Amino acid sequence: MPTGQFTAVADEEPRMSFDHPPSAGHDGSRPRRIVVGITGATGPILGIRFLEALGALGVESHLVLSDWAERTIKLETSYSVPEVRGLAGTFYPNGNLAAPISSGSFLADGMVIIPCSMHTLAAVAHGLGDKLITRAADVTLKERRKLVVVPRETPLNAIHLRNMLTLSEMGAAVVPPMLAFYHHPETCDDFIRHIVARVLDQLGIENDLTIQWGTTRHLHADPNRPRSTTAAVAG
Ligand SMILES: Cc1cc2nc3c(=O)[nH]c(=O)nc-3n(C[C@H](O)[C@H](O)[C@H](O)COP(=O)(O)O)c2cc1C
Repeated sequence: MPTGQFTAVADEEPRMSFDHPPSAGHDGSRPRRIVVGITGATGPILGIRFLEALGALGVESHLVLSDWAERTIKLETSYSVPEVRGLAGTFYPNGNLAAPISSGSFLADGMVIIPCSMHTLAAVAHGLGDKLITRAADVTLKERRKLVVVPRETPLNAIHLRNMLTLSEMGAAVVPPMLAFYHHPETCDDFIRHIVARVLDQLGIENDLTIQWGTTRHLHADPNRPRSTTAAVAG
């Protein structure tokens, strides 16, 4: 659960307060500020857990949901759309191209699209800024800020792969939500936490959501546990 006090506002100036010192921005003078897009791929829980992590870490979050993200939140999770909006410091409608995050003059420390549908991936790779998520991603790239996409589709066709390569060549981090086993996951939430941690790593936001290989607990799974596919190697 987030420890900060958040206020969701749609079209107004951002407002928020924290009950603990927020983590510093790159220059140390303000809280870190991350734009978050959740799109209509399966797995909106990834974006929800990411927002919760940002809140717990005192990072300022600016959220946009696509129409299909709102549908998948209802279809796949126990969260209501207003609850998800409330996890962010500020929420903007995807149709509001006049929102602050639509401009490079709004100083964000990066943007994450989690999960990222193949539709949004294609739109970002081809520079379509017709919705706030794709416009904010375009701004992130043109300002040479960190863009992290978490594309969710399987199997992948050549169009998907080309679009990922295009974004990677432009400096974006492409972080598919792939399963890992070296942290000995036991629940679905363990897998999700691992992905969220890897995305935070890309943004340089320190967290202890998962182990860093070679630093803490290892190597073999609990011998009393039932046999599983858990391997003792880093992936
Ligand atoms: C339940 C559900 C799951 C979906 N899962 C995926 C998916 O994993 N990846 C994907 O690219 N599209 C998926 N889609 C299709 C997208 O929602 C659709 O392409 C939509 O146009 C994406 O729009 P957006 O990028 O604006 O959110 C899914 C749709 C539904 C209803």
